[in-house]
Amino acid sequence: MTSATLRPASDYPPGGDAFRHRHLIGIAQLTPWEISYVLDAAEHWVDLNRSGAAKHDDALAGLTIINAFFENSTRTLLSFEIAGKRLGADVVNMHAAQSSVKKGETLIDTAMTLNAMRADAMVIRHHSSGAVQLIADKVDCPVLNAGDGRHEHPTQALLDALTIRRRLGRVEGLTIAICGDVLHSRVARSNILALTLLGNEVRIVAPPTLTPPAIDRMHVTTFTDMDEGIKDADVVMMLRLQNERMDGAYLPSAREYHALYGLTPTRLEKARPDAIVMHPGPMNRGVEIDSSVADDPVRSTITEQVEMGVAVRMACLDILTRRKRKVAGWA
Ligand code: NCD
Repeated sequence: MTSATLRPASDYPPGGDAFRHRHLIGIAQLTPWEISYVLDAAEHWVDLNRSGAAKHDDALAGLTIINAFFENSTRTLLSFEIAGKRLGADVVNMHAAQSSVKKGETLIDTAMTLNAMRADAMVIRHHSSGAVQLIADKVDCPVLNAGDGRHEHPTQALLDALTIRRRLGRVEGLTIAICGDVLHSRVARSNILALTLLGNEVRIVAPPTLTPPAIDRMHVTTFTDMDEGIKDADVVMMLRLQNERMDGAYLPSAREYHALYGLTPTRLEKARPDAIVMHPGPMNRGVEIDSSVADDPVRSTITEQVEMGVAVRMACLDILTRRKRKVAGWA
């Protein structure tokens, strides 16, 4: 798909306001219209990023964005940092390992400290589900959730939807298999919410020990057999085994997991011939995905997902700071 121009807000019913939220905490708060609005806005930034222009944009010039990461991250932190800088903002990063959090400061006290510095937006990652909402309730600026525990990772789901839309021409009416450690995955949760909302058939493929209880309530079909679960799928989305979130023995061994749930070239033949393979990263090569699949230039979208991540985060930062910047047409 080529780039789409940003449609006027009037094209996005209902309610008149194209994106009426102060914060981006989760996909659960969004309508299909709002998701499409963000994706369309991101297309503009994909073009700008690809143009290689030395000067990018100064839409956020003079604004300060704080990236407060209480949990490790490579691509999400860098992606938000690059996104803010490409929009001309001053971006500062707070790593919890070097902060007063390690000295026993409470989350609320850290939030109040960041708030007193008068940031214009905060991007927060935290290991506890619900922590980002807690901070959003206490501060005066828009807050973007960069992943909270097992709860949500909304910008990941938005960048995945954009990648699918660009690769397959649409992100509706598709069969999408989300495979692996669904139990511990905020990526899976946000993607299930976004992809079902947009009108796709979502399948969960996982061993029983890594399938969340009551997942059926999220309008998905569950499979424990990988070959059955990815049969005729348009999209095969692989997830990392999140060992750091496992507090017991969920699996016999990584070797056995690979034998039953690893995405190999032979197994991928069960999906549609033009199916794409996605992974949010970081990958465990040889565990959930074989290198020959991950590096397949035709099927794998893994590097494109990273590229779309910058564009989607530029769109989110731009949209959420518009009220503050009093951009014409915004309340
Ligand atoms: C994911 C995360 O942190 O939730 N990574 C990411 O943001 N790209 C998934 C993971 O850690 O496996």
